[in-house]
Amino acid sequence: MTDTPIRLVDYLPPSHLVDSVALTFRLHPQATRVLSQVCLRPNPARPGRHDLRLDGEALRLIGAAVDGVPIAAMPDETGLTLPASSLPDGPFTFTAEVEIAPEANTALEGLYMSRGMYCTQCEAEGFRKITFYPDRPDVMAPFRVRIESDLPVLLSNGNEVANGPGWAEWHDPWPKPAYLFALVAGDLVAHSAGFTTMSGRDVALNIWVRPGDEARCGYAMDSLIRSMKWDEDVYGREYDLDVFNIVAVDDFNMGAMENKGLNIFNSKYVLALPETATDDDFARIEAIIAHEYFHNWTGNRITCRDWFQLCLKEGLTVFRDQQFSSDMRSAAVKRIEDVLTLRARQFREDDGPLAHPVRPEEYIEINNFYTATVYEKGAELIGMLKRLVGDKGYAKALDLYFRRHDGQAATIEDWLAVFEDATGRDLSRFKLWYSEAGTPRLKVTDDFRDGRFSLHVEQVNLPTPGQPDKHPKVIPIAVGLLNPNGDEVVPTTVLELTETRQSFHFDGLAARPVPSILRGFSAPVVLERATTPEERAFLLAHDTDPFNKWEAGRALAKEVLARMVTDGAQPGPDWLDALARVALDEALDPAFRALALRLPGEDDMAQTLHAAGHVPDPDRIHAARQRMAAALAERLDPALPGLIDALAEPGPFTPEARAAGRRALRLAALGLMTRRDGGARAAAVFRAANNMTEEVGALSCLLDVGRGQEELALFESRWGRDRLVMDKWFTLQILHAAPAEAAAKVDRLTAHPDFDWKNPNRFRAVIGALSANHAGFHHASGAGYRVLADWLIRLDPLNPQTAARMSTAFETRARYDADRQALMADQLDRILAAPALSRDLAEMAGRMRR
Ligand code: ARG
Ligand code: ZN
Repeated sequence: MTDTPIRLVDYLPPSHLVDSVALTFRLHPQATRVLSQVCLRPNPARPGRHDLRLDGEALRLIGAAVDGVPIAAMPDETGLTLPASSLPDGPFTFTAEVEIAPEANTALEGLYMSRGMYCTQCEAEGFRKITFYPDRPDVMAPFRVRIESDLPVLLSNGNEVANGPGWAEWHDPWPKPAYLFALVAGDLVAHSAGFTTMSGRDVALNIWVRPGDEARCGYAMDSLIRSMKWDEDVYGREYDLDVFNIVAVDDFNMGAMENKGLNIFNSKYVLALPETATDDDFARIEAIIAHEYFHNWTGNRITCRDWFQLCLKEGLTVFRDQQFSSDMRSAAVKRIEDVLTLRARQFREDDGPLAHPVRPEEYIEINNFYTATVYEKGAELIGMLKRLVGDKGYAKALDLYFRRHDGQAATIEDWLAVFEDATGRDLSRFKLWYSEAGTPRLKVTDDFRDGRFSLHVEQVNLPTPGQPDKHPKVIPIAVGLLNPNGDEVVPTTVLELTETRQSFHFDGLAARPVPSILRGFSAPVVLERATTPEERAFLLAHDTDPFNKWEAGRALAKEVLARMVTDGAQPGPDWLDALARVALDEALDPAFRALALRLPGEDDMAQTLHAAGHVPDPDRIHAARQRMAAALAERLDPALPGLIDALAEPGPFTPEARAAGRRALRLAALGLMTRRDGGARAAAVFRAANNMTEEVGALSCLLDVGRGQEELALFESRWGRDRLVMDKWFTLQILHAAPAEAAAKVDRLTAHPDFDWKNPNRFRAVIGALSANHAGFHHASGAGYRVLADWLIRLDPLNPQTAARMSTAFETRARYDADRQALMADQLDRILAAPALSRDLAEMAGRMRR
């Protein structure tokens, strides 16, 4: 096992290029044969003669040949080296036959089996578990694939070129790296549709699922068609094959995968009916379908030179899927939700031992870098670029990007050069966002004299692990100014902060304005500004920027909650009144009102308190948040029944944003009402529900106040045979368990006959929910830490990737008191001492233990 870090500075172009690949799969659960024929030639970019290194892991080599002449190849742990002296100095063909065992593949990487079907996951480095190959993204080639199996449906990338009984052949004309290879074989049925592209080409669309699930594909198909159209309309990108296949798989480590022409999805992000999926599920399906589809251009046609450039495809594609969702739904609500996620996941990551730049410079296991920083912060960097160069500049830059780099494996340097060439802007300073980790803090003060309003801004870039010294960033700060009467006197303008300290002036003002700073969350920073509750309440009432309107309420709520935690205060009438006004304002979007009613999360509060120099106490935070909800419920009490009645959706369920927003507000009101009426109304909503959003929503309301046992049993009897729905049943119980009971609840549920811990969705549903129950996970007994470590140690030998990912629950260790820190350190040590610890989990635990 190699534990030496791979470094960006060590990048070398490949010694050889691949002109074409032909693969034959003779599928068998325990002994699949893979025959490969790889046409190679020396890479002119690497003059001289070089050994050829072929990656390969856990492969039984049957035989290999160069230009038809058998070679005595001796693979090591990680691959095979063909010495330069044994290779022709022109083009040659390497053939090999290997044997692999898909059924024994529990890591779900490479070729594996999921409930009787064969499928693959090759990103980042799974192809080397299928055959010997230069498994790196800068080696691109067209693939021809023959699949032999008795299973009825045999799929691979590209277009199907021939088939017969027991076999099928596929050809993908677009050169691609091995990580985009895919194969599926199973007893599947298709939900089919068609799409005519902007140049008039017909594309067959299929979503392949198990028989019985075909009725659950409608929303995913609809999302796909809208994604295809949107990418044509907004980015001018057309689909480039005759068929686009999606397959839903039950056992999958991640959300989904953009394999060329054959996307493979976690079934959770495909299958949905109103009765089985919540509004959030529908929104995520739409976003992930779009994300994977958009990768066809940003990822597949233009891929990454090496894995350090991962954000090149992921940051951009997340940005594109966010744009899409915001066009399909409410832009304001989408932005608020994206910022909530960014803060909850990426700010948290940036604040701890796992902090790393958007473009990391070294890694031990690349799977550990599919992070919120690469994805979500990576998307924020694109948003900032767009703000800096304007919409037209962005459009020009993207056109140039597609023109210049189509068919290539590119870098962040290429990406930024395109923006510089298209807009004439120097982005060398902006590039620091890619290389420096950490969330900048902005300290803002202001003054007003003789009609001039000045904002004085200072940026503070704190050290992160391995990066003691930081440089000032280029930070676009969108600002608007409001009159004391609430009118906007200066509409949104983007200030560009480039230095450590800078002042910005607005002249000709009649009165001191109220500034609305960082509108739309124009940069991924923490804004620190001493202000008054009155000013926040003013912005909550009057800001024309919906994000900052919400943000003002959020900041207010966090300040109130912080005081409740630190000195046991009760929320004052000012906050309650301000929030009540928004909650009951019928002129506002119900989805926005629901977001305003959502109280700050406990993990978020812990992070905020820690940043303010406190040691967060999870029990006190939990108790204070409960008191806050109770106070809000009391304040809104008279209005709640009316709200709940008025927001009931007449007619059949539709997943569209407007209806979802009304349901969200209705459930927020129901949650508050449950604190007043002992759960009578929630129980009634649960029983009357004709959709999963309300069924699960009402159940959550009940569990939140320690009720709902009867409903849980009903839910289980109704949905016991539905895996995706039962994941919710498991999650809810952990998520809403009282702090002292959460760990015991995990013990109880992991003993449930349906707790199939080898299924990543089910494992996450229980073990992942524990780390999302802040007070439960951090209970002073240490039981939460222990039970998580137990399960990570157990899962790691089977599925290192998922085990490593879930270990990030420990990344916030430094926030807490010495006792909790020691308890967490003990568990990290236990993990590190586990025999045969995977490289994945070893790297994560090691970084968190340092
Ligand atoms: N490229 C996929 C996506 O963003 C994620 C694949 C992650 N795979 C992994 N092994 N970490 O959509
Ligand atoms: Zn992606």
